[in-house]
Amino acid sequence: MDESYTRHIEVPPVEDYCRLRAVAGLTPRSAAAAAAGLPNTVVAIVVRHDGRAVGMGRAIGDGLCYQVVDVAVEPEHQGRGLGHAIVGGLMEQLRRLAPAEAYVSLIADGPADRLYAQHGFEPTAPASIGMAQWLGR
Ligand SMILES: CC(C)(COP(=O)(O)OP(=O)(O)OC[C@H]1O[C@@H](n2cnc3c(N)ncnc32)[C@H](O)[C@@H]1OP(=O)(O)O)[C@@H](O)C(=O)NCCC(=O)NCCS
Repeated sequence: MDESYTRHIEVPPVEDYCRLRAVAGLTPRSAAAAAAGLPNTVVAIVVRHDGRAVGMGRAIGDGLCYQVVDVAVEPEHQGRGLGHAIVGGLMEQLRRLAPAEAYVSLIADGPADRLYAQHGFEPTAPASIGMAQWLGR
């Protein structure tokens, strides 16, 4: 990530959160869901370019377990190291925060597993398989 980008320990504002998820191709989330969930963020990173949010990532959890979520970079800023800066920043914060041993998991979409593998994550399959469902959709 070059010096035109700045990395902030910051929870993304609702509007930036919804926009970044959508432009990065992640399932769009409503402003209502974002407003309810974002204040419960445990650690977060926003990457800004000319002051504008162009990348983000968050982790949620309780000290025993954490989940890395919402890692997204605007397409025109992808491939410049922002993903590494975001995931690295989240893991640094979690290492400082975790009171004892902690389990950190995530669901890797498509080729994003290559990014996470470089930050210590290993596939859980075949021993265990991530499972998920939506409520209220
Ligand atoms: C995945 C994503 C966050 C990576 O961000 P990025 O800024 O492009 O990442 P970086 O430039 O730091 O590259 C990090 C690694 O990501 C991988 N990567 C690069 N472009 C990628 C892409 N378009 N999709 C997936 N992975 C990609 C590469 O393996 C790269 O590793 P390298 O260091 O060996 O080259 C970004 O591509 C994105 O927002 N994708 C769409 C949303 C998404 O899939 N989010 C992850 C949900 S789990």
